[in-house]
Amino acid sequence: MKKDTNNGKTQHAWKQKLAVVTGASSGIGAATARKLGAQGLSLMLVARRGELLAKLADEINRSGGDAEILCADVSREEERLRVFETITKQKRPVDILVNNAGIGWYGYYADMPWSMALEMIQVNTLAVAHLSSLILPQMRARNSGHIINVGSIAGGIPSQGVALYSATKSFLDAFTTALHRELRGSKVFASIIRPGPVSTGFFKSAKRRNGGRSIPAESLGISAQLVADRIWGLLKRPRRVVYVPWYLGVVPWVEAGFGWLMDLLGPRLLKRKPGSL
Ligand SMILES: NC(=O)c1ccc[n+]([C@@H]2O[C@H](COP(=O)([O-])OP(=O)(O)OC[C@H]3O[C@@H](n4cnc5c(N)ncnc54)[C@H](OP(=O)(O)O)[C@@H]3O)[C@@H](O)[C@H]2O)c1
Repeated sequence: MKKDTNNGKTQHAWKQKLAVVTGASSGIGAATARKLGAQGLSLMLVARRGELLAKLADEINRSGGDAEILCADVSREEERLRVFETITKQKRPVDILVNNAGIGWYGYYADMPWSMALEMIQVNTLAVAHLSSLILPQMRARNSGHIINVGSIAGGIPSQGVALYSATKSFLDAFTTALHRELRGSKVFASIIRPGPVSTGFFKSAKRRNGGRSIPAESLGISAQLVADRIWGLLKRPRRVVYVPWYLGVVPWVEAGFGWLMDLLGPRLLKRKPGSL
């Protein structure tokens, strides 16, 4: 990335770039917003909890950044269209779209209420496909842009207790990989980041949705900051996929070679609730 050193000040060319970050009110999204804001990108922060977004935007703006907020529920089509129209009205092209908003739930799929399953499909997959469909044509027309989807290691190793969550993240794996291949040779990029467990409010929210049952991976979490650093790394050096931590890159190989072992051992990890399967 070029630097402008006029007047002795170092100003990155990122300064003119607009990044839309969904799910920016907490966890990985908030850490990503802080990281990109500190690197000079202009930000549009999207989520439902407006007070958290406002606090974060204020923090970023007070440190010399440029952040605006847009309260929206990305599970709803009309809200996604409103996000797109608001940005379009400002006549600012979206340079970077970080599809980060996502929800989890832990337990047997047979116990998962359909309303919860539908919401998960809408947030984790439909919102990503729709926002990308709205923004990608403009990126392609300008031959410039980057879509980063926040997947999960769960997409590469479908696991007991997170059946639908794993499936939504597998969707992102396939979707992003295919997009990356479609865009090859252009200056528009599609990348997926596959974190392992991250210490955010994600587990707390997932537990709240499934009656407080503890989740095995909960205690192993890395920091959201590390994921945000990798997202920044992807912008500087675009690649199809990044694992956080890096050694989780072995996981798809484990699934391909030792899926039979997961079939044997996996069910032992799912803490059984009296009365369930
Ligand atoms: N934590 C982990 O272990 C882990 C591991 C791998 C991947 N991930 C992925 O990382 C992403 C971020 O999760 P996180 O760990 O940072 O959890 P988090 O702190 O719970 O953040 C989730 C974000 O998604 C937003 N969101 C949820 N539903 C939304 C909706 N309908 N409309 C708009 N925004 C919505 C939330 O904002 P509002 O509630 O304000 O709307 C929040 O900002 C998710 O895609 C998750 O699947 C997490």
